[in-house]
Amino acid sequence: MALAHSRVFGAAQLEQVPTPGSYRAYIETYGCQMNFADSELVAGLLHAEGYGFTQDPQEADLILINTCAIREHAEEKIWQRLKYFQSCKQRRPHLIVGVLGCMAERLKAKLLQEAPVVDLIAGPDSYRHLPQLIRQVESGARAIHVLLSREETYADIAPMRLAPHPTSAYISIMRGCNNMCSFCIVPFTRGRERSRRWQSIVSEAQQLAEAGYKEITLLGQNVDSYQDQGVRFAELLARVAEAAPTAWIRFATSHPKDMLDEVLETIARYPNLSPYIHLPVQAGSNSVLQRMNRGYTAEWYLDRVAAIRRYLPQAVLSTDIIVGFCGETDADFEATVALMEAARFDFTYHFMYSERPGTLAARRYKDDVPQEVKHARLEAVITKAQALSLTSNQAQIGTYQQVLIEKPARRDPKDLAGRTFSGRNVILRGAAASYKPGDTVEAYIHEATSATLIGYVTATLSESP
Ligand code: SAH
Ligand code: SF4
Ligand code: F3S
Repeated sequence: MALAHSRVFGAAQLEQVPTPGSYRAYIETYGCQMNFADSELVAGLLHAEGYGFTQDPQEADLILINTCAIREHAEEKIWQRLKYFQSCKQRRPHLIVGVLGCMAERLKAKLLQEAPVVDLIAGPDSYRHLPQLIRQVESGARAIHVLLSREETYADIAPMRLAPHPTSAYISIMRGCNNMCSFCIVPFTRGRERSRRWQSIVSEAQQLAEAGYKEITLLGQNVDSYQDQGVRFAELLARVAEAAPTAWIRFATSHPKDMLDEVLETIARYPNLSPYIHLPVQAGSNSVLQRMNRGYTAEWYLDRVAAIRRYLPQAVLSTDIIVGFCGETDADFEATVALMEAARFDFTYHFMYSERPGTLAARRYKDDVPQEVKHARLEAVITKAQALSLTSNQAQIGTYQQVLIEKPARRDPKDLAGRTFSGRNVILRGAAASYKPGDTVEAYIHEATSATLIGYVTATLSESP
């Protein structure tokens, strides 16, 4: 679920919101999908307070940056952006700059000390307090709220749908994480795990489908441990699938130690549950997995992969891999490459280990793999991942696929880009003349690279509302 990209909120639909004379907010978001979903909540809250929105930080009265702390590099980017916001503030002295999200939670008041440009800090469980924190800044004081909660799920707050494509929506089904993987900062920045009430998830999904949304992604750090009033994740999936029969339902992230066959069975049973499974493995060596405190072995992981392939022959399986974790030897690393081969991952996200202060690994183990070795291992993982993705995508040549169109293709404006039901990227040649983002089509696949399928439209399935 770690998508190392940023996106600016302030989409066209927001500009239609009539808020004459009101303050204008600019929200910039980094990190995983949960952070993007949180920015939608924040936008919803601000809208209810009468804020308008802008896509230009230079025009904003309020800049909020929703941050990620997963790796050191993620935080470096935020420091750069804060420097830029400092220059905005010199031109617009009344500008309020707020830092939200995981880096805010990790650094707390230290961020106020080290970045004079910052007026306001709010952690992931503090967004309800934003209006009050903004008023505090307006009255001349800097404001901070970073208390983590055991209950907050924001179930009653209407998010402002901004992302990522016109007919796609996120629903956060739980918050926090109880897993304590030794490398990971998330349990410290997002607190204890809690599940949102299933009724509010199901009714939100139903409303989205009725409003014409075609893709709904259920989000949690470990969806397999969802539990509310006796409803577990498989049951929740079934209820959402029934409540939103016209939408494709996706979810992230599954945890190998908790993923049950009943989830796979449920996906196989409902035609609108997408067989896309993101199952982070992190490493292929059992001693590394143990130091990572992941709670499974390579053999257990491969058993889960076998179950996925058995229940869902069309499944697209992706993973996360960390190279260069504390104490990782050449033999350990070879085990990771061997596991990639055995699991035949359709897609791989890869990261170099980055020590995070305060985590179990930082306290217990030495970050002892030299930088150049981490680099070389990352390169080897990338090479392997590309070869596996190419094989997987080439196997789709000659098939027909359902595709939800998302956006214009980057290379050629005559083409459109989208995703198959199972989550593969597709470029549709020449489709821009007749189709638009939000349409669902059938496509014939005639070519494939490691990154994408290439095809053309053979039929319209449903049009964007
Ligand atoms: N809850 C999800 C995602 C957590 S963060 C899960 O359990 O998979 C997304 C990914 O970032 C992780 O899967 C891991 O591969 C990577 N990651 C987390 N902490 C990291 C660190 N300290 N250094 C490098 N990569 C890290
Ligand atoms: Fe981090 Fe592990 Fe929780 Fe994922 S499951 S958020 S990697 S502690
Ligand atoms: Fe997500 Fe980054 Fe926080 S990956 S949970 S925004 S540390």
